[in-house]
Amino acid sequence: MKRIAVLTSGGDSSGMNAAVRAVVRSALSSGLEVVGINKGYKGLIDRNYGMMSTRSVSNILQRGGTFLQSARCKEMMEEAGQNLAAENLKGMGVEGLVVIGGDGSLRGALSLHRRGIKTIGIPASIDNDIPYTSMSLGVDTALNNIVYAIDCLKDTASSHDRAFIVEIMGRNCGYLTLVAAIACGAEHALIPETPFNIGRICENLRKRYREGRDNSIILVAEGVATAQEISNQIKDCIGFESRIMVLGHYQRGGSPSSFDRLLGSRFGQGAVQALMEGESGKMIGLSASKMKLTDLEKVLTGKIRPIDKSMVQLSKSLDF
Ligand code: F6P
Repeated sequence: MKRIAVLTSGGDSSGMNAAVRAVVRSALSSGLEVVGINKGYKGLIDRNYGMMSTRSVSNILQRGGTFLQSARCKEMMEEAGQNLAAENLKGMGVEGLVVIGGDGSLRGALSLHRRGIKTIGIPASIDNDIPYTSMSLGVDTALNNIVYAIDCLKDTASSHDRAFIVEIMGRNCGYLTLVAAIACGAEHALIPETPFNIGRICENLRKRYREGRDNSIILVAEGVATAQEISNQIKDCIGFESRIMVLGHYQRGGSPSSFDRLLGSRFGQGAVQALMEGESGKMIGLSASKMKLTDLEKVLTGKIRPIDKSMVQLSKSLDF
């Protein structure tokens, strides 16, 4: 394999730049050439691309969004678009492709694999809805954004004895809403995966009011309802006025967290390694990060956590 390409596709997420940088630098350090495709599959179809150097990915690690830019591409959902994308890659002399994006983008990657392009996908979406990885790229940063916003909201809510309904992204997945609710100490999280009872929520709001609690925060996943709809339902039920906040695309931006920078770097390097080992039609994911109890005696031996040698290797391969 002599030349690979990389693209970011679908909704952006923080950490995509770290992943692109790692793809480019680890590929170059292994003697491969790298083509950067602009604006996702749209750019692939339009042949909007350029050669990447180690300098072209300097100073992007700390930036949110994707410097290659992204797009949602309808053509790529159809055979004609997929055929053209594969032909264009072959025309560019590209033998391997790394696709960084959510489930729709990974579907595009599979279609290219079926057309003879060696392809590896990197799961990147704030929704954390992609299976076979415990975290997708950008989830951690989005959570930090949400937590920051809700902490601010709680200050003003407390000053005025207010209830706020906060609408959170995630499509049909309630992960962000649920985890943010835990991290922020919200009173309720309404998510698509579990039914909820608006009557019980209203009862709780009344109880909190009687107890003299100075704020109530209810998070609603966009896949359940809008914040306005929930606010209206509460008003109809108990005549209680609540304020709403729709976090929207704010959640997707911002400087990536350390976790997402590291995850993007690991995903990027892993994807290139997989391509060089002849893998294709696969997604690289993070697994085995499940909760697990360990005896304190074992933990408290005085030894510090051993460094992961593959991380040392990774840092070397990205710093040349
Ligand atoms: O998939 C990521 C996501 O941010 C979803 O949470 C949200 O529903 C959607 O993308 C918004 O899409 P767009 O950026 O096209 O408005």
